[in-house]
Amino acid sequence: MPARLVVLVSGTGSTLQALLDAAADPSYGAVVVAVGADRGGCGGLRRAEAAGVPTFVCRVHDHDERAAWDRALADRCAEFRPDLVVSAGFMKLAGPAFLDRFGGRFVNSHPALLPAFPGMYGPRDALSHGVKVSGCTLFLVDAGVDTGPIIAQRPVDVIDDDDEHSLHERIKVVEREMLVATVGRMLREGYRVSGRKVTIP
Ligand code: GRF
Repeated sequence: MPARLVVLVSGTGSTLQALLDAAADPSYGAVVVAVGADRGGCGGLRRAEAAGVPTFVCRVHDHDERAAWDRALADRCAEFRPDLVVSAGFMKLAGPAFLDRFGGRFVNSHPALLPAFPGMYGPRDALSHGVKVSGCTLFLVDAGVDTGPIIAQRPVDVIDDDDEHSLHERIKVVEREMLVATVGRMLREGYRVSGRKVTIP
């Protein structure tokens, strides 16, 4: 049976689309069983619907407090029995309830070479700093902001006339390949976590 992926999105969903495309091939060994978002109407939800994948929306402001949202998000994801939860442009920080349930099998992709430039504006911060090489990072989500154990990274050169958008779009091309290839290997071959070191045999 293929491994079960739940993907969390907030934006256009191009990263999700790369996973949907890869999962269409049975040899990938995983299927996207649901897509969740923190907001309605985003591109990622539309891409999931177009692919016939169940979707759910879990808005923070529909709950009295953040902790209730966190629990609700964990419950919605759990309904689909995921082997791995992938944050693909999901712009909310999961809290303790979610991490209790999915810690160790919840990965996020970030458009910078962590630990450099964590947070919402990785490409912008990298450009402001004047780096010559940036890139993307896949990591296991922990309680910090983009601080979890690193699984994979890819470098992307910064070019002189880059702006935030051009750099981020060029990173996203590489990031989609990194995410699809690494998530596939993790699910087909397994992975080990020892402290901050993640290895895929
Ligand atoms: C990705 O670069 C991801 O790392 C960042 O937001 C982007 C999502 O793009 N958090 P998309 O919504 O998958 O097109």
